[in-house]
Amino acid sequence: MEKFIIRGGKILEGKVDVSGAKNSALALMPATLLNDGINAIENTPEVNDIHTMIKLMTELGSNINFDKHRLTIDNSNVNNQVAPYELVKKMRASIYVLGPLLTRFGYAKVSMPGGCAWGPRPINLHLEAMKKLGAEIELELGYIIAKSKRLRGAKIHFDVPSVGATGNTLMAAALAKGSTLISNAATEPEIVSLAEYLTKMGAKINGIGTKMIEIEGVDTLSPADYYNIPDRIEAGTLLIAAGITGGNVTLCNVMPNHVDTILIKLEEAGFRLESNENEITLRSTGAIANVDVTTDVYPGFPTDMQAQWIALMSLANGTSTITDTIYPDRFNHVPELARLGANIEVVNNSAVVKGVGKLTGAKVMSTDLRASASLVLAGLAASGTTEILRIYHIDRGYQRIEEKLKTLGADIERVKTDEY
Ligand code: EPZ
Repeated sequence: MEKFIIRGGKILEGKVDVSGAKNSALALMPATLLNDGINAIENTPEVNDIHTMIKLMTELGSNINFDKHRLTIDNSNVNNQVAPYELVKKMRASIYVLGPLLTRFGYAKVSMPGGCAWGPRPINLHLEAMKKLGAEIELELGYIIAKSKRLRGAKIHFDVPSVGATGNTLMAAALAKGSTLISNAATEPEIVSLAEYLTKMGAKINGIGTKMIEIEGVDTLSPADYYNIPDRIEAGTLLIAAGITGGNVTLCNVMPNHVDTILIKLEEAGFRLESNENEITLRSTGAIANVDVTTDVYPGFPTDMQAQWIALMSLANGTSTITDTIYPDRFNHVPELARLGANIEVVNNSAVVKGVGKLTGAKVMSTDLRASASLVLAGLAASGTTEILRIYHIDRGYQRIEEKLKTLGADIERVKTDEY
């Protein structure tokens, strides 16, 4: 096992690159299952979830090479449509193979993803959409068994604009017979990039980036290459690392329009933000103002930034309320932040954060990906030493975050430990 040791109080200064987006790569990769050729995806982050998806697709018969952020995926020998529990339980995004396998091969057996650190994460919208497209769906011994001759286009409305269900339906509809309308679709940048990639393969999609997406099914799709978008959540996390330490940092290789809401909230908190087409600079100006946040689907404030915002508000002047409307119980980071001296009370799906003058280093434990990011941020600002256990969580979605923070002046190191 490994842990981080952070000696807090260093002001972060300088420039840092943002990696490719984990949550778009996790959709782009299974999308290549829709064709039987060789596809290349550039700007893929070196994070553990990508390696889990590589393992899963290799199990299906894909031949994948991953070298310096470039994924080469050859699907000419995909011959297995079973996604086993051993792999799916490690990563919910494995459900993204359902749509492509079903629409290309007429059969998919995918383990139910199970829960996650902060509670149930249903997949009913995915299954209802596949049924609407004509699939027979059975649940057997913890597996989804989906069968269909050729899927048929349908009109599908999502009561909740689910990112994953929108992605699965886009991929399934791309090879269905006839046209599909997705109403109340997710508009996250990761879904836009998936739709753009499918279009490059020959899919016929209108309304990309809107809540009404129309897909005209085609008979086959061809291999294509794609340059992945930057990771907007890593960008937001690094901006808060700069702000929580009173620093001045420039992010490179970022798409500012993907983080507009986060930038607005950071300005309200008293930071000076400047951006051009692929850089964002944050300058600290002294005190951190207390700013309430309510998470929402894109372009609202992302739930994946909720934990990081709570860490920042722990040191703000005054009280702020952070409400998560997407995942009402995503607050496992709160008791760990309290160990560092934060004053937070969780009331239903809100955290009421009373800013404190300072945080003090302690030993804390990661519980999930974004919770661990919030602990790193708090540790950077805390006086003294913070030790963060179970950092395998953070490695799922951040590429060697300690290296990036070190280049900005943080005193952080990754060490081996038998502590769990
Ligand atoms: C994606 O998960 C992201 N993961 C999550 O990021 C992110 O938190 C989430 O979108 C919301 O933005 C990837 O892209 C791999 P949803 P996903 O389906 O697709 C409910 C991270 O930290 N829902 O948009 O699973 C669900 O319970 C991860 O990088 C249903 O009710 O999210 C939730 O309340 C964590 N039925 C809401 O929709 C369904 O069938 C949004 O979920 C599906 C979802």
